[in-house]
Amino acid sequence: MAVVIDGKEAAASVIAAVTEASASLEKEAGVKPGLAVVIVGDDPASHAYVNSKSKMAKQCGFNSIQHSLPEDTSQEKLEQLVAELNADPSIHGILVQLPLPKHLNAEPVILSVSPEKDVDGLHVVNAGKIATGDLETGLISCTPAGAMLLVNRIHGRDLSGLNAVVIGRSNLFGKPMGLLLLAANATVTMAHSKTKDLASVCSHADILVAAVGRPQMVKADWVKPGATVIDVGINRVAAPDKGEGKTRLVGDVAYAEAAEVAGAITPVPGGVGPMTIAMLMANTVIAAYRRAGKTAPRF
Ligand SMILES: NC(=O)c1ccc[n+]([C@@H]2O[C@H](COP(=O)([O-])OP(=O)(O)OC[C@H]3O[C@@H](n4cnc5c(N)ncnc54)[C@H](OP(=O)(O)O)[C@@H]3O)[C@@H](O)[C@H]2O)c1
Repeated sequence: MAVVIDGKEAAASVIAAVTEASASLEKEAGVKPGLAVVIVGDDPASHAYVNSKSKMAKQCGFNSIQHSLPEDTSQEKLEQLVAELNADPSIHGILVQLPLPKHLNAEPVILSVSPEKDVDGLHVVNAGKIATGDLETGLISCTPAGAMLLVNRIHGRDLSGLNAVVIGRSNLFGKPMGLLLLAANATVTMAHSKTKDLASVCSHADILVAAVGRPQMVKADWVKPGATVIDVGINRVAAPDKGEGKTRLVGDVAYAEAAEVAGAITPVPGGVGPMTIAMLMANTVIAAYRRAGKTAPRF
């Protein structure tokens, strides 16, 4: 039976380290890390995410600012707000909650955030730094950074000699995750919807990362015995056993059967999920240290 990788516990230890780093920065340099979260429209799920980010920022001792803009906000107005936040020295991190309402174009908004304040790690400059192997001066996208921290907990920071397979090649997760694994010396295969015989490809993985968005797609016989399985998928499925109309969250991995074969596995929920917000806080404190001309902590 696999070791269950506890993302809640890992996230709590990142948050504790961020809180300590934030307090030291304020004491030594008089700088309080500032995080501005921008949300457009009324989507309840996005509001719930944003509220939990703002709450966590306060818990970390940050100056936490939330801008809630109406649904009909124009592209120009949104980019103007980002420009103001870019120019505000008390703000070290800017996060524009995605998805944006349909009439807005996310790409120019992401590119309008100063790369030094891009705590979501989505700006092309930050994506490019990971692609060129520079993990020291940019900001790394939060979910892959968090998933990588869980991998490091099992295997250490050097993955020499290990085969890693990432299923999914999105800019948000799959691509940066593959690059982080490569930077840590793993031999990386990036799989996607056009990959032939995915089960066989996966069965060679010492580290198998699934980020597809298909409930329980990865079966036990795809998993190499003893492998580390990182399940990034978050899928809401019907749960009639819990009552009529009830649902539950499942990952992209058939957890119960895969846990019989894997050496270590992340559950859903409680695995990669809690890491994303923790790494957002980590990126904000890193950005604040850099802005203050101090060596940023490593998480
Ligand atoms: N905080 C978190 O924990 C967090 C953060 C981000 C994402 N997620 C979750 O992670 C999952 C993936 O997110 P994403 O943003 O990366 O999704 P995405 O942009 O939809 O990308 C999905 C990827 O899966 C690949 N794919 C689709 N069907 C496949 C199949 N049958 N076999 C192999 N590959 C297949 C796609 O391949 P093609 O490129 O060929 O189409 C694509 O590269 C979602 O469940 C999402 O909710 C969680």
